[in-house]
Amino acid sequence: MADKDNERGFLRGLQTYGDRDFSIYMRRAFAKSMGYSGEELARPIVGIAFTHSKFNPCHRHFPELLEAVKRGVTAAGGLALEFPTISLHESTLAPNSMKFRNLMAMDTEEMIRAQPMDAVVLMGGCDKTVPAQLMGAASAGKPAIQLIGGPQMTSRYKDDRVGACTDCRKFWTEFRAGEIGKAEIEAVEGRLVTTSGTCAVMGTASTMAAIAEALGMTLPGTAAIPAVHADRLRAAQATGVRAVLLARSDLTPDKIITQAAVDNAVRVLLALGGSTNGVIHLAAIAGRLGLKLDLQRLNELSDTTPVLAAVKPVGNEFYMEDFFAAGGIGAVLRELRPLLNLDCMTITGETLRERLAAEEGAYVDRRVIKAASAPLEPQGGLVALFGSLAPNGAILKRSAATPALFEKTARAVVFSSLDDLGARIDDPQLDVTADDILILQNAGPRSAHGMPEAGFLPIPKKLLEQGIKDMVRISDARMSGTAYGTIVLHVAPEAAAGGPLALVRTGDKVRLSVQERRLDLLVDEAELAKRRATLASNADVGLRGYDKLFRETVMQAPDGCDFEFLRR
Ligand code: FES
Repeated sequence: MADKDNERGFLRGLQTYGDRDFSIYMRRAFAKSMGYSGEELARPIVGIAFTHSKFNPCHRHFPELLEAVKRGVTAAGGLALEFPTISLHESTLAPNSMKFRNLMAMDTEEMIRAQPMDAVVLMGGCDKTVPAQLMGAASAGKPAIQLIGGPQMTSRYKDDRVGACTDCRKFWTEFRAGEIGKAEIEAVEGRLVTTSGTCAVMGTASTMAAIAEALGMTLPGTAAIPAVHADRLRAAQATGVRAVLLARSDLTPDKIITQAAVDNAVRVLLALGGSTNGVIHLAAIAGRLGLKLDLQRLNELSDTTPVLAAVKPVGNEFYMEDFFAAGGIGAVLRELRPLLNLDCMTITGETLRERLAAEEGAYVDRRVIKAASAPLEPQGGLVALFGSLAPNGAILKRSAATPALFEKTARAVVFSSLDDLGARIDDPQLDVTADDILILQNAGPRSAHGMPEAGFLPIPKKLLEQGIKDMVRISDARMSGTAYGTIVLHVAPEAAAGGPLALVRTGDKVRLSVQERRLDLLVDEAELAKRRATLASNADVGLRGYDKLFRETVMQAPDGCDFEFLRR
C-alpha cells in the first residue's frame, strides 16, 4: 500500500476509519469500477467543475468544451475527472439567480475540498457562475484555473444586427411605446439569442470573464473568445494542460488574487464600462481572501481610469465578438499598463508584466478598443455615491447614463415594493412627470425578492408615449449588465434592513450629484425620526431551509452580498 507521502492525487483526503490501508483499498476498488487503471489513478488528478444544465442555455456547448479540457489534461499526463455542481442561468431561476450564487459557491468550495483532486478547472459563463466558482475556489485553497464559456455570436433581425440583451430591452421599449406590434416582437424573440454562450454584449457575464482574466485566473487572451469559435476549444485544451502543471504546484488562488490584483480588476471593470454587478461579485471574491473592494477606493480608481471599450451597452455598435477580434482584454490591459500593478502573479506562473511584454505590438482595432491617449471617456464608467440616502454607498453606471440628468434635485415618486411597482407604473392616473425621480424600495438582498435585477425600473407608460426614454431611478436592487439609463443601484443599507431608503415618501425632494458623488434625501431629521418609528418590523416569519439561511446571513452590497460566515 502507498505511504503517506503519496497522498496526493486520488489518495487525497482518505476517510479515517482507523485502518488507512483499508480506506485506500476501498477507494481504489470503486475507482476501478469506472475502468481506470492503477497507472491512471497514480497521475495528478484534475477536477473539472462542470456546469452543464438543460436549464442553462448559456452553457449549451459545455459538453464539447469539456472534451477539449480532458484532452489537454490527458496530453499533459493528468487524469481528468469532471464533477457536477449547481448551474445558474439568469432567466430560469426564481426569484432570481443572485439568490443562489452563494449556494453555488458553497457547492463548488466543498466539492473541491472534499474530493481527491490536486487542481480544478472551473467551467463557468453565465452571470453568477464565474463569481460563484472564484469565491468557492478561493476558499477551498487548491490550485484553480477558470475556463470561461464565452459570449454568443450576434444575429440579424431585418436590417439590424442584434444580440442579447441590450437589444432585447431596446425592442421591448419600442413595443411598450406602441412603436412595434405583437407579431413583430414575437419575431424578434426568435432572433435575439441564436448561438450558445453568454450574452453578446458587455453584460455581467462578459464583465466577470474580464475580471477573471484581469485577476490572473484565466489563461491570457481567453476571456472574450466567442463560445462557438474554434479558439474557444483550443483555450479549453490549453486550460487542461495548464491545470496539470498547477496540480504539481502550490500556486493557490490566494497567491494570485491579492489586493493589488483586485485593484487591477477594478481598473479593467472601469475601462470596460462593465456591469455594476461586477462591483458586488468582485467584493465577494475579495472578501473570501480577507481583501476588500472599498467603494471610496473605487471612486479614486474611477477618477483616473479611462473608458476604452465601445461595446454595448456602451456605444451603439459593437458586440463581444467585435471586442474579441479587436484584441480582447489583452489590448485593454496594455493600454492601462501605467495604471496597473504589474508584479501580480497570474495562473501561468508569469507576472502580468511578463504577460504584457509578450503581447507587445499585437493587433488592436481602435474602433472598438480605444487608446488611453484618446479614450471614449477620460474617467471610469462606474461611480459610487454616498449621502443621507445611501450612507454606505450606491452605484451609478455613468457610462450608460444620460449626462443631462447627473445633477438633479427633484420630487420622488416612490414604489414600496416590486408588487407595488407592477401594479401602478403603467396606471394612466399615476402622478408622475418626466422631471421626477422614481424610487423602488424593498428590492435589496434581505428583501423577499433577494436583490433582483429590478433597478431598471420601466419608464411609466404614459411618459414613454410622450417620448421619454430616461429618468433618474433609484433602488436597492441590482441591474442587468446589459441595461442602460440613469439608474442608481445597490443603495446601502437597503430598505429591508432599515436603511434611509425605507423612509422616502412620494413628494420628498431627492438630490443626485454625480459631480459631488452625492445622493441625499432632503427631509429633516425630525420628520425622518417620526417615519422611522412607524416602520413595520421586517421579522422573517416562517422561513426555512436555504431561504432562511440567505435572509439571515446575507451581507449588504458593499460586502458583495456574501454570507457572513463564508468570509475569511
Ligand atoms: Fe447567461 Fe446573459 S443570460 S449571460
